[in-house]
Amino acid sequence: MLSIVKDLLCLAGVYATVLWLYHYFLEPLCGIVWGSVRCLLWREKLPIRYGPWAVITGATDGIGKCYAEKLAEKGLKILLISRTESKLIKVAHELEKKYDVETKWIAVDFANGPEIYDRLRQQLAEFDIGLLVNNVGFLPPLVSFDRISETDLLDLIHINMMSATMLMRMVLPGMKARRRGIVINIASTSGDVPVPYMAAYGATKSYLKSLSVALQDELRGTGVECQLVTPGMVRTNLSRTFYDKMPWYIVILSAEQVARHGVFLIGKTWHTCGHWFHCIQVCWYPLLPLKATVRIIGSIIKGTANKVH
Ligand SMILES: NC(=O)c1ccc[n+]([C@@H]2O[C@H](COP(=O)([O-])OP(=O)(O)OC[C@H]3O[C@@H](n4cnc5c(N)ncnc54)[C@H](OP(=O)(O)O)[C@@H]3O)[C@@H](O)[C@H]2O)c1
Repeated sequence: MLSIVKDLLCLAGVYATVLWLYHYFLEPLCGIVWGSVRCLLWREKLPIRYGPWAVITGATDGIGKCYAEKLAEKGLKILLISRTESKLIKVAHELEKKYDVETKWIAVDFANGPEIYDRLRQQLAEFDIGLLVNNVGFLPPLVSFDRISETDLLDLIHINMMSATMLMRMVLPGMKARRRGIVINIASTSGDVPVPYMAAYGATKSYLKSLSVALQDELRGTGVECQLVTPGMVRTNLSRTFYDKMPWYIVILSAEQVARHGVFLIGKTWHTCGHWFHCIQVCWYPLLPLKATVRIIGSIIKGTANKVH
């Protein structure tokens, strides 16, 4: 009897280990190898595989701007969507000059909520959109949930969740009809486990994660893909308030590193942290009880938040 229990425990251990290895290492590795072979064999360029236009939200700074550059480098025409007109004009000119690609831009403030989408729908209708990068995001101050202003909470919902949801709803019918296209959703590692003092922000990223993974299954066989990108901490304006308060934290990457790896993995993996360095940061999460992981992350964030405020 004891030996049967031992064997069962052993089997369960092997099964859990293989599952963990498969999720964090084997599946991405197979995707990269197969995707690279496919690229080499068929010499598929992104504009041919998905379509000529890439739409990027939050494209004038940080990760979005770097995605715009990397995609322009791959020969895609770039439609930049962001808030500040002067920055849009500047980035569009830079891309045209450096990569010799056509660019367009739309100035819109996603914090304005549902009213912006009728106009956006009309503006997007004229483009053959191959890639949609839902990148725009907002991070409110790191304080306990009850201290975040109601305005910030509404902005969070409008910018982080509604923008991606509505844009996907707009472009997916066209992509499915053309049987090509990819939606890339930039979520965050803070959507992987609940993050105290970033609770609402993390929840918006969990929403994106859930939506993306479900869509990946819905889209099977349609020729359209959905990729989930969940970076850890990246050195940009969004995280500026606290990354310099964590000098010991060595896994802060540049936006260029995340975009370079992210674009390399388009069409290869259904999920990426944007960089292997960030994948290592999260692969221990399932090895501890959820409450313990949340407590550890919470105390790190609380320590940092105390230095910020
Ligand atoms: N930085 C990190 O550590 C980190 C980690 C994980 C995930 N992420 C996610 O990555 C994405 C990009 O973040 P980032 O760090 O690159 O941000 P960022 O450097 O602050 O850039 C944000 C971009 O979004 C635009 N934007 C901001 N609010 C907007 C609004 N209401 N309407 C329209 N455009 C708006 C900005 O335009 P303006 O310049 O005109 O304001 C800018 O182009 C976000 O979804 C974020 O949650 C970031």
